[in-house]
Amino acid sequence: MRYSVCPRRQLLTETGAMVSRRPASQIYKVTCMKSVLGRRRSYSKYSLDEPFFPSIDIEKIISTYAQHHTKRLSLEDLLRFGCPPIPADQLVLNARHIKQEILSSLARRVIALRNLPYIMMLNPNISQIYHKYLNSISFVHGDESFKPENMAADEENREFTKALEKVVDEHTDAIPVLAKGVAESREYISSAMADRFLDEHLRVRVGTRLAAKHHIMLTKQSTSGLQNGRYVGIVDTRLRPDEMVQSVADLLADVSDLQYGLRPTVKIDTGSDIEIEYVSEHLEYIITELLKNCFRATIEHFTGQSSSSHYRVGEKSNSSQGIFGGPTASLPPVLVSISRAPTGIQIRLRDRGGGIKDHHLSKIWGYSESTFEEDDFDDGFKRLNTPPPSVTGTGGSSMGGLGYGLPLSRAYADYFGGNIELESIYGWGTDAYITLQCARND
Ligand SMILES: Nc1ncnc2c1ncn2[C@@H]1O[C@H](COP(=O)(O)OP(=O)(O)OP(=O)(O)O)[C@@H](O)[C@H]1O
Ligand SMILES: [Mg+2]
Repeated sequence: MRYSVCPRRQLLTETGAMVSRRPASQIYKVTCMKSVLGRRRSYSKYSLDEPFFPSIDIEKIISTYAQHHTKRLSLEDLLRFGCPPIPADQLVLNARHIKQEILSSLARRVIALRNLPYIMMLNPNISQIYHKYLNSISFVHGDESFKPENMAADEENREFTKALEKVVDEHTDAIPVLAKGVAESREYISSAMADRFLDEHLRVRVGTRLAAKHHIMLTKQSTSGLQNGRYVGIVDTRLRPDEMVQSVADLLADVSDLQYGLRPTVKIDTGSDIEIEYVSEHLEYIITELLKNCFRATIEHFTGQSSSSHYRVGEKSNSSQGIFGGPTASLPPVLVSISRAPTGIQIRLRDRGGGIKDHHLSKIWGYSESTFEEDDFDDGFKRLNTPPPSVTGTGGSSMGGLGYGLPLSRAYADYFGGNIELESIYGWGTDAYITLQCARND
């Protein structure tokens, strides 16, 4: 299906220097030729804003790796090495496999970006993402003509892992940039196409980052003694979902206190005996996003506060009991039940936040469907996809904003075969059901 491209003065002016009918691949080649980089630079000086290996034939790499068939990682794949330390020869085999998979995913995303209506590539935010992907390909691939013969396995893995760390780091804040770019280009693309593009893009990103972070952690656990017997790469083999829910709830209560002056609570009624093997970062993301929605709905329903009357992050509430001085205990707790399911677990979050209107319910899984007020939008971009507060001590500092929370959480759950569903009674509250497929369930 083709979409009509309708040039707008504002976009063209904003990107004046880039207005050109050249294909994006040529723009990249020109950037490379102008670069005066040496053949190899120290990793510490590396920035994804410039191509790292300008001499390599990026178009050839893209067309080769875009054909490569990628396989979604299962939890069993992640756990197959057992507890680190892992011998250097196995680590390097994993590195070579991961390299192929990542290059293939990046190459396909570059092609997907090129397939967007051309005018979207002129948007500075989308262009930034596009160049990040091109440069990541160049960096992950490296200049193989430079690779010394008979490179030792541990050195090859060390070099590759350093490159991966840089790429993971550089893409950490990419989602807000992409979200902004797509939002600014909404008039050039239908909602359905934007949602499809974002969903595919973000799902691939979940998989790419998972593979990269897992390999980085396996290497660290194998080479620098960073191992306590509990983690295999990024899989927590003794993850307690009840503890995760409670710690996320405590952190979000702090955020709510800053933003609304109120501290909602959770009540976990079952599941304190359940332990799973799962990627803790994924579960933390899901619980954080769903609980944020529950807390926000509960507060707004019971106090009549809307997003526009929120305390802004950074302003201090004047009372630990909330800005209205009312007892926080009067908010009904979010009820959490954790139970075993045939091949994993199910977590139900039940709030009494007034529910969701029927006509809105069918749209909430789309990107950008939010009932947050307009003036929260820019904040939302900055916050979006920041790691949960417990990871950084700073992230997740607001309760809602862009409408990415639900669809992205579902993408995380779905990655290992799980799902998230919502049931809502308008005027009363909402139940969220998270189903996770686990490697082991005992
Ligand atoms: N538990 C809930 N109670 C009432 N409404 C909800 C609940 N969960 C989600 N919603 C509605 O669904 C919309 C989309 O939720 P989603 O989490 O995807 O985005 P958001 O919370 O608006 O922004 P973001 O999560 O990106 O910060 C919300 O704006 C809200 O209107
Ligand atoms: Mg949300």
